[in-house]
Amino acid sequence: MSNLVIIGAQWGDEGKGKVVDIYTEYSDDVVRFQGGNNAGHTLVVGEEKIILHLIPSGILHEGKRCIIGNGVVLDPKIFLQEIEGLKKRGYLKDDSQLLVDGNVHVIMPYHRVIDIAREKKSGDKKIGTTGRGIGPVYEDKIGRRGIRINDLIRPDSFARKVKEVLPEKNFFIEKYLGEEPLSADAIIEEYSAYAEELSKYVGCASTEISKSIDAGKKVLFEGAQGSLLDIDHGTYPFVTSSSTVAGGVCTGSGIGPRFIDKVVGITKAYVTRVGSGPFPTELEDEMGEAIRKAGAEFGSTTGRPRRTGWFDAVALREAVRVNGLTGLAITKLDVLNDIDIIKICTAYKYRNEILETFPRDFEILKECTPVYEEVEGWQTDICDAKSIDELPEKARAYIDKMSEVTGCPIVLVSVGPRRDQTIHLSHPFD
Ligand code: GDP
Ligand code: IMO
Ligand code: MG
Repeated sequence: MSNLVIIGAQWGDEGKGKVVDIYTEYSDDVVRFQGGNNAGHTLVVGEEKIILHLIPSGILHEGKRCIIGNGVVLDPKIFLQEIEGLKKRGYLKDDSQLLVDGNVHVIMPYHRVIDIAREKKSGDKKIGTTGRGIGPVYEDKIGRRGIRINDLIRPDSFARKVKEVLPEKNFFIEKYLGEEPLSADAIIEEYSAYAEELSKYVGCASTEISKSIDAGKKVLFEGAQGSLLDIDHGTYPFVTSSSTVAGGVCTGSGIGPRFIDKVVGITKAYVTRVGSGPFPTELEDEMGEAIRKAGAEFGSTTGRPRRTGWFDAVALREAVRVNGLTGLAITKLDVLNDIDIIKICTAYKYRNEILETFPRDFEILKECTPVYEEVEGWQTDICDAKSIDELPEKARAYIDKMSEVTGCPIVLVSVGPRRDQTIHLSHPFD
């Protein structure tokens, strides 16, 4: 048995897509278990760049099965567009490569309308969501009024459910949010067309994953967003609406915890965040701008500039604990190529106290300022390094430092977006 979870260890966009693509070579099934098309996972193959929002990042590998587990929320239009885009580029030749669980909740037009209008109404208190309807669809799931893929593919039950739920949505949309109400007939017509196209992908993720595990196959679970955006363990309320941490794998795909062997956290060699919320090591100066530029830090989903800052070991230790990380994959080390002095935050200062542990109380976190250690930069281009020995000594010292301050072994170092810009320090499934 050997099953591996990939988790974002920061606030998202750590390079999960790239690492999952690389690890797919050693896997049989790749499974998304939470989130929706708020995610944007970038894969670079040669000159080609592919951004996936819903389909697991293993899809470029022929013969590997990609599964969308029940914990995901799915916008059918985006899903079908993504399939079309992949097919046009010569991928996904065999439809049996892709499976969507029937209990996945469907993102409906009213979810997007409510998400966007609520944000607009919140003014400077907004969360900075991706506007994809993620919060509202998870609210309906927990409120037991959601519409699932199994409903969508049954025309009668779908029409009945839309007619049941829409009056309440329209009341809220019109009277509270001041937006135009939606038409049930228009929704039913649009979504019925999607249902016909996507029904061939529908199945049961839990039983299929179990069959793979029983057959001794290797399953890779692909997290979306990051630990600090988790609904319970993140910087609430500035989080997404799903369980992004490793624990979410079990509920979001229908397997028991004993089937998880390893959990690798992906972290950049610095930190980024899109949207609002606390970010103790944020750099709102020229250095922050230089990192944004060198790292091309603009959202893969919304194109928004990402906030940037120094590596935060306090926040990382939180991710190590909450996810039970067995290893760290460090990405975007090359982005720091030109920096002479690199800072690492090893503790926070809160009033007169030094905190080694990430405060889970938002009121305390808001007031924390970073305590930094400095290391010398390598000021050399490392983009072509193929092994750890080819990295300059100062780059290796920085990697060792990240491992030391997080208490977690490093399993991979990425020095560029391409597949061949990857240094393996250990085999993913060993
Ligand atoms: P994800 O959401 O975690 O999959 O990450 P994103 O795809 O949103 O953002 C990561 C970005 O960094 C993408 O544009 C990747 O192509 C790029 N990337 C990944 N690893 C590296 C790396 O080691 N160096 C550089 N320069 N870019 C990288
Ligand atoms: P990947 O998988 C970075 C952020 C949004 C916002 C908050 C809530 O590519 O790492 P939502 O639309 O989910 O209700 O927004 O979460 N967010 C992400 N930030 N990467 C992501 O995904 C994100 N998905 C959501 O910016 O702050
Ligand atoms: Mg992303």
